[in-house]
Amino acid sequence: MHSFIELSKLFEEQFNIRHFPLQPETLYDPAQYILGIGGKRIRPVCVLMGNQLFDEIDPDAYHAAAAIELFHNFSLIHDDIMDKAPMRRGMETVHTKYGESTALLAGDAMLVKSYEYLNKIKPAQLQKVLYLFNNTASAVCEGQQLDMDFEKREIVSMDEYEHMITLKTSVLLAASLRLGAILGGAGEGNQQHLYEFGKNLGIAFQVQDDYLDAFGDPGKFGKKPGGDIIANKKTFLMIHAFETAKPGQLGELKLLIKNSPANKVEKVVQIFKECKVDDWAQQLKNKYLQTALKHLEDTAVLSVRKKPLRELAEYLMKRES
Ligand code: IPE
Ligand code: IPE
Ligand code: MG
Ligand code: MG
Ligand code: MG
Repeated sequence: MHSFIELSKLFEEQFNIRHFPLQPETLYDPAQYILGIGGKRIRPVCVLMGNQLFDEIDPDAYHAAAAIELFHNFSLIHDDIMDKAPMRRGMETVHTKYGESTALLAGDAMLVKSYEYLNKIKPAQLQKVLYLFNNTASAVCEGQQLDMDFEKREIVSMDEYEHMITLKTSVLLAASLRLGAILGGAGEGNQQHLYEFGKNLGIAFQVQDDYLDAFGDPGKFGKKPGGDIIANKKTFLMIHAFETAKPGQLGELKLLIKNSPANKVEKVVQIFKECKVDDWAQQLKNKYLQTALKHLEDTAVLSVRKKPLRELAEYLMKRES
């Protein structure tokens, strides 16, 4: 059985190749660029972890893992266009470096490439894999649209926020684990528990992502700080501030959102601090973590085999990039 770190290395060894033709380089170099600037590779490692929970790692799990990481990177290229983000993984975003039109196409090419990897999976498993992969991909699109719709709304509830981040982020983590489990021959009950583990962990993961956008260490974060604030994202920080701000703070917050002055980020972060959203973040993350761990406990596999998944959960709660 491999640890989280070992699985990351095993995946990287296989994945660290050129996935695209050389020509036209104006299309494929940008796709290769985003794959080459790092990334934590959490989702493909989840595929491998979900798989090794049940047996030795199946070669098909590497195909599914590659497909998932390509899909994730495709979604990031398009997300950075939608969010007007200049930086990712400490480097220029694809559309900043190569232009929006090329970034769209490079993303499309990556999505197609992810299906090429899926197509290598044994026919006996392929239908189930595609069903889950496609449902997940649709959910991500829905979540991304809700995320943008919410930018234009003043009030978004915590339930709506949870629904949106479940779709845009957490189902991909959940599906990664389940794909590994399917390929490992897991029964339906175990698949479901792992999926719920991933879903709740994914929600906690996005809560941390939103937290880092406002409170992260700029030296480690790798993205432009305050990007969510500039884009009027309805993150839990903003929702909680709206719910708990005193009348004066609320008025100021609304004006900052309406007028977007030069010091918007620093002013909004100050209000966040006054509303103690950082404490709230810890509570919120912990709530989802506990639910996630309960599902891991209920997965009918020897407890020692679950160690890498517990390590992963711990790492994700504390991540700084
Ligand atoms: C970023 O995901 C997108 C979100 C869903 C928040 P990661 O933080 O996993 O990005 P990389 O792949 O490690 O750069
Ligand atoms: C991204 O969410 C979710 C997807 C890419 C589907 P964010 O917009 O919060 O991710 P970052 O912060 O840009 O990585
Ligand atoms: Mg973004
Ligand atoms: Mg986004
Ligand atoms: Mg984010």
